[in-house]
Amino acid sequence: MPYAHITGWGMAVPEKVLTNADLEKMVETSDAWIRERTGIRERRIAGPDEYPSVLGARAALKALEVARLHPKDVDLIICATSSPEHLFPATACLIQDAIGASKAGAFDLLAACSGFIYAVHMAAQAIRSGAIQNALVIGAETLSRITNWKDRNTCILFGDGAGAFVLQASDRPGGVLAAVMHSDGSGGNLLILPAGGSRLPASIETVTNGHHYIHMDGREVFRFATRVLAQSTLEVLEKAGLRLEDVRWIIPHQANYRIIEAAARALKLPMERFIINLDRYGNTSTASIPIATCEAVEKGLLKAGDKVVFNGFGAGLTWGALVAEWSGPLPSATRPIHMERYRPLARLRSWLRRSIRRLEGLIWGRKA
Ligand code: UT7
Repeated sequence: MPYAHITGWGMAVPEKVLTNADLEKMVETSDAWIRERTGIRERRIAGPDEYPSVLGARAALKALEVARLHPKDVDLIICATSSPEHLFPATACLIQDAIGASKAGAFDLLAACSGFIYAVHMAAQAIRSGAIQNALVIGAETLSRITNWKDRNTCILFGDGAGAFVLQASDRPGGVLAAVMHSDGSGGNLLILPAGGSRLPASIETVTNGHHYIHMDGREVFRFATRVLAQSTLEVLEKAGLRLEDVRWIIPHQANYRIIEAAARALKLPMERFIINLDRYGNTSTASIPIATCEAVEKGLLKAGDKVVFNGFGAGLTWGALVAEWSGPLPSATRPIHMERYRPLARLRSWLRRSIRRLEGLIWGRKA
């Protein structure tokens, strides 16, 4: 049975920074309160032309470059997102088109902030089963578009960004070792985007009542998060036959410094063993774990052979953890990669396919 290795990683965040001082001018809050209660100092906000697929495609190409894979080598794209561009088509399909992954299946996975862990697990299972060779897993968000900028309970927390992993099959032992996934839909109301789906379609009423924004019971989510983060970590380690001492790094979902502190206390681990960058990006939901991972690799913290636990929680309620032995690019990854070429090529390919569809429409007597 092949192993599923994480062989590529990439991130993309918007340039615009929104600081706590900026938020002080928008709602009744203070830099001191936000830092003390969450640890967040600033977050990134998408520009008018930046969508999850735009940020996701950027992160994906970087990840492919690290893994030295061409977009056409990708068999499967899973995009975990809590702020999909549309209900359908899937944001994963938009990314597939933007990078020219012409042979890939693509779908979105909705497990909110746990989505990236779920998605890496699903991709790893597809590789382990022998069904596919190469997968691209992306967490991509523009949460700023579904945030109520008048609600101080939520608007201080969220930020935009994307991160991606490439997973590849190899006979070499290592890679994703085990994962656990959990859910409790009885807490669905605690963190919810009430309208815009088929239950509450958009209407003047839903818009007036702010039902297209994130609604959250912060205290309850906090309580839930502090409980499950440590629990799922111990559970996944047991499943992998590992002990906490074997683990070099914990990379948690970046929601709140105090939640991570509580998990560290419960696990009796020093905070130095956790990768934390929420001070600069806030909570980017599905993107927070891959963004934190990319920065850890860049800083030289995460090295091949390190055992790392990723753990997260979010709306649903959902939570989960995954343990992996960090790999780096496969030894066979030596081909030259020209990432700068793939985007224009993908654009041309997309344009050609649209043109052919239009032409076929004309031939079959339909208006294009
Ligand atoms: O990916 C999962 C997403 N969600 C989360 O991870 C959220 C988890 N929850 C949290 O992180 C925390 O509950 C929050 C950061 C949202 C809130 O922190 P808290 O320590 O739980 O505050 P609280 O809700 O208990 O509110 C304490 C006080 C309240 O005032 P009163 O009722 O004590 O007078 C709030 O009205 O702080 C007030 N408050 C604020 N004050 C200044 C709430 N938000 C703010 C604010 N600035 N932004």
